Amino acid sequence: MVAQTQPAAASSSTPVNIADPDVFGRTDKAVEGWYWALRSADLAKGKVTALNFLGRELALYRGHDGNVRAVDAYCPHMGAHLAEGMVEGDNLRCFFHGWTYEPDGTLTSIPCQNKPLDLRIQTWPVKERYGLIWIYNGREPTHDVFEVPELAGQEVDWGHGAAFEKGCHPNIVMVNAIDEQHFTTVHNLPVKLHFDVQERTPQLITFDNTTHIPMSNPFLRFLGRFYAGPLTYKMAYQTGSTGSVTVGPDFLHFHIIFCLRPTSDGKALGQTVLITDRRRGPVGWLVNRVLLFLTKLVGDYFAHGDTKIFQTIKWKFKHPIAADRSIIRFIKHLERMATVTWEEWSVERKLVPLRRKPRQEDASFDEPTLNPFDEKTKAGPHVAGSSFESARNFEDAVSFEQGETRADTEGNFEESTDTEGVTPWPA
Ligand code: FES
Ligand SMILES: [Fe+2]
Repeated sequence: MVAQTQPAAASSSTPVNIADPDVFGRTDKAVEGWYWALRSADLAKGKVTALNFLGRELALYRGHDGNVRAVDAYCPHMGAHLAEGMVEGDNLRCFFHGWTYEPDGTLTSIPCQNKPLDLRIQTWPVKERYGLIWIYNGREPTHDVFEVPELAGQEVDWGHGAAFEKGCHPNIVMVNAIDEQHFTTVHNLPVKLHFDVQERTPQLITFDNTTHIPMSNPFLRFLGRFYAGPLTYKMAYQTGSTGSVTVGPDFLHFHIIFCLRPTSDGKALGQTVLITDRRRGPVGWLVNRVLLFLTKLVGDYFAHGDTKIFQTIKWKFKHPIAADRSIIRFIKHLERMATVTWEEWSVERKLVPLRRKPRQEDASFDEPTLNPFDEKTKAGPHVAGSSFESARNFEDAVSFEQGETRADTEGNFEESTDTEGVTPWPA
């Protein structure tokens, strides 16, 4: 049985301490959501396996109907681990005294007596997608398993890239892909990236690059012919541990999903998924195999790109500067999430809803009203005198003066949630 504690009374006006966030990178709690657990192929029909998942001991089994179930590991009779047991049809039978549980967790049989006790084991929501088993660390999912926004609702083909382990929390690995500074210092990218940030749903945030390929040499000029607009580099994150990157010229986008989950010793276990829209027929099948292979090369580069940093970093974001704005946005977005305690999965705090009400008053903006969920304003307005062009798409925007970097001594950012304009920085 999961002990329920009173959820924290989180509110949208709770200040966010960037240096010591309440959700980002925490190992004593986990954001409520879907996390990848295993490759589907690693759990055959009729098999059961043990899994420590977000600190909780689970038994995972695949019934003879092909469906996977996730249950709390310890048998309520005497505490035997149910992964020592066996699958019978779609039920799970404890090895020790043969008590048998149905797919919904109900105890259906005690071999030594006619009538079972009235009890059940705790089951958890499970889905299979992209050849992976996903588990939700809450009783009722509030959203679906992650989809790449560009491919949402479409039939897709997928393949698996590398499985990997990093020496830090998944959130820290994830923000690497939107760390604008490091593309120049680590990856020698000749393009200065700058993201348009959108909170699409309470759980989903996207970062789309807005800069164009510079025409500074013949190679870049050639490359630029394949991009009518900005250089395609789009990140989408759901609940901070699963995300996708979309890259490539206008005629061919490559999509890679990075599935991560935190471990009890503060690491991240990852699996990359290569994904493309499904093309029909034998030729389409062949084209997809080639595309997925090319996507794998891109995915491996991303998966291994900054490995040495992730093995040794001790995250402490003490001196944020304007160039870190995307990471700040990610942290602030994550601070809204519903969380459960590590291992117990008791509700720790509830989701802070997005405030969708547009701001009405600020003469320095081009448009009088903005709704971040309105496609017409998707690109965001220009903020006069600011280098943070999309700031007003968000209720808790941080504004930056051109070329200026400011933070208080503790790295605290006051979350601006009122409708009276942006006052994000302590004076
Ligand atoms: S411990 Fe499971 S049946 Fe006895
Ligand atoms: Fe990187």
